[in-house]
Amino acid sequence: MPRRPQAVDLPPISGLDRTSGHLGRQLTHALREAIRIGSLKPGDLLPSTRQLAGALDIARGTVMEAYEQLIAEGFFDAQPRAGTRVASALAQSRPVAGGSQKPATHATPTSLPAPAAAFAKVAEQFKPLPPVPFAVSIPTGPAAPDAAWRRLGNRIRARGPGAPSGYDDPQGVKALREAVAEYVRRSRSVQCDAAQVIITTGTQQGLYVACQVLLGATDVAWVEDPAYRGITGILESTGRQDRMVRVPVDDAGIDVDAGVAMAKDARAAFVTPSHQYPLGMPMSMGRRNALLAWARKNGAWIVEDDYDSELRYAGHPFPSLQGLAPDRVVYLGTFSKILFPSLRLGYAIVPEALVPAFCGARVLMDRHTPSADQHVLAAFITEGHLDRHIRRIRGVYADRRSQLVGMLERWIPKDLGWLQPSDQGMHLVLWLSHGIDDVLLASRAVEAGVAVRAVSPMYSEGNGRPGLVLGLGGFSNKQMEAAVRILASIILSMRKTTPHMQTTS
Ligand SMILES: Cc1ncc(COP(=O)(O)O)c(C=O)c1O
Repeated sequence: MPRRPQAVDLPPISGLDRTSGHLGRQLTHALREAIRIGSLKPGDLLPSTRQLAGALDIARGTVMEAYEQLIAEGFFDAQPRAGTRVASALAQSRPVAGGSQKPATHATPTSLPAPAAAFAKVAEQFKPLPPVPFAVSIPTGPAAPDAAWRRLGNRIRARGPGAPSGYDDPQGVKALREAVAEYVRRSRSVQCDAAQVIITTGTQQGLYVACQVLLGATDVAWVEDPAYRGITGILESTGRQDRMVRVPVDDAGIDVDAGVAMAKDARAAFVTPSHQYPLGMPMSMGRRNALLAWARKNGAWIVEDDYDSELRYAGHPFPSLQGLAPDRVVYLGTFSKILFPSLRLGYAIVPEALVPAFCGARVLMDRHTPSADQHVLAAFITEGHLDRHIRRIRGVYADRRSQLVGMLERWIPKDLGWLQPSDQGMHLVLWLSHGIDDVLLASRAVEAGVAVRAVSPMYSEGNGRPGLVLGLGGFSNKQMEAAVRILASIILSMRKTTPHMQTTS
C-alpha cells in the first residue's frame, strides 16, 4: 500500500475562543491567516481532519466544515485518497516572503499604468460644483421640474412599468426611444426612428461608446480646440492622446481646412455645431457643408454633441448636423441641461448599421440605464410636460442671462474680464486678462462660495486662454449679484498679485 505523504506540522492555530461559538468560522479564518503569512504554503499537505480535531480538541465536524469552506473558496484542493493540500494556484498570488504586514491598501502611482494618471486628472477637474451660482443646470427655483415629475415618478415606480424587473433592453426602454425619436425629429430636424435611438446615461457615456466603436487602435480623431474636457479626457485616458488632433475654432466653428491640413485621413470628428463648447458660437452653414463633404469623401464619422441647443433666446434653435447627413453622423443628446444632470439620461442616435455595436459596447459598460427613470421620462415627454418645462426655463434663463450680463459689466473692470458674445445656452464665458491664472481663480471662487470652471484646461497644451465658464440656473438676482461681487473681488486681488499682466479685450 503506498504510504501517505507526510503532512505539514500542525499549522499554528491560536486564539480559538471556545466561548464565543462559531468555532468552524474561527478555524477557517485561522487557516486562511496561516496561508497569508506563509506558515502554510501552496502544495502543503494538511493534517487529516481527525488529526487536527484531536490536536485542537474540537469536534471533527468543525474541522471538516472549515476544510470544505476553504476548498470552496479555492484556498485548499482535495483529491480523493490523496488528502487535502493548500492550492498550488495560490503560488502566483501569495504575498512575498516575510509578508506578515497587512496587505497594501493603495497601490503606489508607479505601479499603475499610464491611463491612471489621466483618470486622476479628470477626477480632479470634474469634481461636482456646489449648488451655488454659477454652477450649470442646477434644478433650483423656477428651473426645477414641476410637480408633474414627482407625481409621475411616484406612480410609475410603485405600480407602473417602472416597478422592479429583470434585465432590460440595453438599447433602452421602447417607450422612451419612441418619445425621444419623435422629440428630436420635431425639435432638432434629426432624421431617425426609434430603432436608431440608444438610451445612454448621458452624453458622457455616448462619447465613450462612440470612441470605443468608431476608433480603431491607430485611428486619428479631430477634436475642437477648445473642447469639452469630457471628450479630450476620454481620448487621453484610452491611449489616444497622440492621435487626437486639436482643430482650432473661429467665429464660424471648427476650421475644416485646418483639420484637413493637419490630418486629412482622420476617422472621426467630435464637434458641438449648435453651440460650440465652451465658446458658444454656432457652426456656419459653409463649415457644416465643408465638414460633411470631408466626412463623405474620407468615410469619416462625425460625432455631434448637441448638449443644450434647445436654449436659443433670439430665434429658433439651429437644426442639427445629423439632419443633413444621417448616414455619417452620430448624434448625442442629453436631458442633463433641459431637465437636470443627476437624472443621468441621454441618447445616441446612430446610423442603423452601428446600432448592434453601440448596444454591445454599452452592455459591457453597464448593461443599461436604470429602467424606472426611463419610464418616468417617457411619460413626462409624451404627456407634454417636457415641452412646457423647456418653454418655462427658456424664459427663466433668458432673464437670468441678461441680468447676469448687466451685473458682470457693472462689477468686473473691462480690462480684467469681458464676455464672449453668444445668444444661447446655459452658460457664459468670461474672458480674463492674460496673466490671471483661471484654474487658481476658480478654486478660490469655489472656496468663497461661487461655482465656476476654468476655461484654459479646455484648450490644447500651450494654447490656453484664461477664462471662466459661468452657468445659468434658477438662482435669484440677489444670489447672482452677491456671487458676482465676490468674483470681482477675487479677480481684483489676483491682479494685484500678478504684476506683469498684459490685458486683451
Ligand atoms: C459640451 C458637453 N458635452 C457633454 C456633456 C455631458 O453631458 P451629460 O451630463 O449628458 O453626460 C456636457 C456637460 O456639461 C457638455 O457641456
